Amino acid sequence: MKYRTIGTDPKTRREVSVLSLGAMRFGTTTDEATSFAILDRYVAAGGTFIDTSGNYAFWVNGTQGGESEELLGRWRRSRGVSGEVVIATKVGARPLAPGTSYTDNAEGLSSQVIRESAARSRGRLGVARLDLLYAHIEDPAVPLAETVAAFGALVAEGTVGLLGVSNHWAWRVERARSLAAVAGLPGYEVLQYQHSYLRPRTDMPGSRSLDGMPGMLGGDLLSYLRAEPQLTMVAYAPLLRGGYVRQDKLDAAEFAEFDHPGTPARLAALREVAKDAGATVNQVVLAWLIGAEVPIIPLVGASSVAQLDESLAAVDLELTAAQRARLDEAH
Ligand SMILES: NC(=O)c1ccc[n+]([C@@H]2O[C@H](COP(=O)([O-])OP(=O)(O)OC[C@H]3O[C@@H](n4cnc5c(N)ncnc54)[C@H](OP(=O)(O)O)[C@@H]3O)[C@@H](O)[C@H]2O)c1
Repeated sequence: MKYRTIGTDPKTRREVSVLSLGAMRFGTTTDEATSFAILDRYVAAGGTFIDTSGNYAFWVNGTQGGESEELLGRWRRSRGVSGEVVIATKVGARPLAPGTSYTDNAEGLSSQVIRESAARSRGRLGVARLDLLYAHIEDPAVPLAETVAAFGALVAEGTVGLLGVSNHWAWRVERARSLAAVAGLPGYEVLQYQHSYLRPRTDMPGSRSLDGMPGMLGGDLLSYLRAEPQLTMVAYAPLLRGGYVRQDKLDAAEFAEFDHPGTPARLAALREVAKDAGATVNQVVLAWLIGAEVPIIPLVGASSVAQLDESLAAVDLELTAAQRARLDEAH
C-alpha cells in the first residue's frame, strides 16, 4: 500500500492509503458477511481510508439511511479497530422522512442539523471523534457563514477532526473556505467529487441544479487544486460502477453524460494501455488517477473481495510516461 497525508493541522491531519474504500452499499445491498470480508481484506492490504455517510443507503429500503454507519460500527467493535483506520462520513443529504430523498427533502446544512447529524454518526460508528466530516450536498437555504461556523465549532470541541466538502460548485467551496479563513476557523480540506477517466459532458442539467452537475469534477476545481496543493481530491465512482467492463451499465441513463463522441476514443486508449501494461482496464483507470499530476484518491466500491483485490493491485501499477501520454491525449 502507499500513503499520503490529508489535512494540514498537525493535530488533525492523517496519513491515509491512496486507495479509499466506499461502504455505501454495506448493510443494505451488500450483506453483512460479505461487507465484513471486504473490509477485512482492505485493512489486511494496508487500506486505512473508508468512506460512508449518515444517509447511506436510504434509497434501498426507503429509510432515512444509517445502515452503512451502523455496519461499520459493528465491524469496528468486532475487530477492535480504532484510530488506525480513518472513517469519513457526511452530513446534509439525509432525507427528513422515510420514503423521501435528498432531492426534495434533505436535512441540509443548518447549525442544528450539523450538530445533531454529527452526533448521530458518532453514535452509530462508536467513535468519540469523526476523523473527517463532509458537507454532502449544497444547502442554498442556509447562509454559508452559519454552516462554516457550525463545522468549526465541532472541530473546536474535538468531536470532528478534518472537514470536507462534496458536490458543491467550485465557487461555493472557495467562498466557504474564505469565510472560514477570515473567521479564523478550519475550512474544508478534502474535496469529494465524481471523477474517472472518461470525460463527462458538463452542459446537462442535474437533479440538484439546472446549471449542470455540481458533483462532477471539472476544470474549475482542478485548477483550484493546482493552486492549493494542500487540498486533497477524493474521486467517487471512479470505476463508473462497473461501467468499464459492463457496456449495459455504461449505457444506463445515470451515465448519460458519457454519451458523446469523445467516449469511444478514450475507451480505445484505455484498452490499448491495459493490454500494453498487462493490467485490467479498471486498474489502468485507478493508476491513472493515483499517479496524476494533480494526484487523486480513488474511492472504490466493491460487492465482492475479488473486485476489491482487482482495485488493490492497481496501487502498484506504475504507468509509463508513454502510456500516460496515450491516455491523456485521447479525446
Ligand atoms: N459524495 C457522493 O455524493 C458520493 C456518491 C456516490 C458514491 N460515493 C462514495 O463512493 C463510493 C464508490 O462509489 P460507487 O460504488 O458508486 O462507484 P464505483 O466504485 O465506481 O462502483 C462500485 C461498483 O462497481 C462494480 N465493480 C467494482 N469493482 C469491480 C470490478 N473489479 N469488476 C467489475 N465491477 C466492479 C461493482 O458493481 P456490482 O456490485 O454491480 O458488481 C461495485 O458495486 C461509495 O461507496 C460511496 O462511499 C459518494
